Amino acid sequence: MNRSRRLRASKMIRSMVSENKLAVEDFIYPIFIEEGENIKEEISSMPGIFRYSLDTISEELEEVVSLGIKSVLLFGVPASKDAEGTQTWSDDGIMQKSIRYIKKNYPSLYVVSDVCFCEYTDHGHCGILCDDTVDNDATLLNLNKQTLSHLKAGGDMIAPSGMMDGTIASLRKAMDSNGYENIPLMAYSVKYCSAYYGPFRDAVDSAPSSGDRKTYQMDPANRSEALVKAEYDNMEGADILMVKPALSYLDIIRDLKNNFDKPIACYNVSGEYSMIKAAAEKGWVDGEKIMMESLLSMKRAGASIIISYFAKEVAKILRDIK
Ligand code: PBG
Ligand code: ZN
Repeated sequence: MNRSRRLRASKMIRSMVSENKLAVEDFIYPIFIEEGENIKEEISSMPGIFRYSLDTISEELEEVVSLGIKSVLLFGVPASKDAEGTQTWSDDGIMQKSIRYIKKNYPSLYVVSDVCFCEYTDHGHCGILCDDTVDNDATLLNLNKQTLSHLKAGGDMIAPSGMMDGTIASLRKAMDSNGYENIPLMAYSVKYCSAYYGPFRDAVDSAPSSGDRKTYQMDPANRSEALVKAEYDNMEGADILMVKPALSYLDIIRDLKNNFDKPIACYNVSGEYSMIKAAAEKGWVDGEKIMMESLLSMKRAGASIIISYFAKEVAKILRDIK
């Protein structure tokens, strides 16, 4: 008789046939750095996640390094905004200062920098507004400036999150012709227009003041389009293909895994984090177990890289079970 239970009989045999495992190396930890001094502010909808200024960030970075987390994804929160987000390519912008600070004081940390405009524009859109919509090609030129400026500050990898068409081709060309041919690009290949970004937008004050992001982010109804978009990024020279959000889009992660041989990343976004935290706080679910199960499902779906606000908690659990 077929008996699946033979291989479930003990912890030992279960671990021998286990198909997927989380490891601390899989994770990229997002960090919010705000311009100013003496800031350590917990994001109200994301318990345990803080906005720091550069003079207080070291406690966070020390912990990240000591937990064995190898990589951080930086988001800047500027003191002032304007129509184009010109701060994004200033040598003294919050991202540039942060990258220099981290690479100097924590050289072992691999710094992935978010490249976008929504935290820096007064209208909150991910590029230059022309009438009521974002001007794709004008935004590409500013994305090049922003990227080169992050790289001059010492960034290790670029992750452009704005969903402008042609981003990867444009950035690859700009990087290659400026001596950054060895810097990888992680493409937000499949980024859906999702309500799961809500807590993040509170955290960095980046909600669009009018309209929404439906003209540039993808429709959650679409699956075939994800492959089209990932193929564009693949051909344009992306090194890593990302799916965002993660948990409602596990099918898309698996589609990319089955169709491309490049590493697949997923972004376990703010709303996914907040929902688990909220339910756990109420005592309705076991937060730790739900967290581990959710993250494991992303790995099983085909992601080898997980960007997650849970990274520190996972690292502690993995350390303690060793
Ligand atoms: C936009 C951006 C978003 C996130 C990071 N950068 C989405 C958005 O506001 O449309 C979301 C990350 C999260 O929710 O954790 N460039
Ligand atoms: Zn944006």
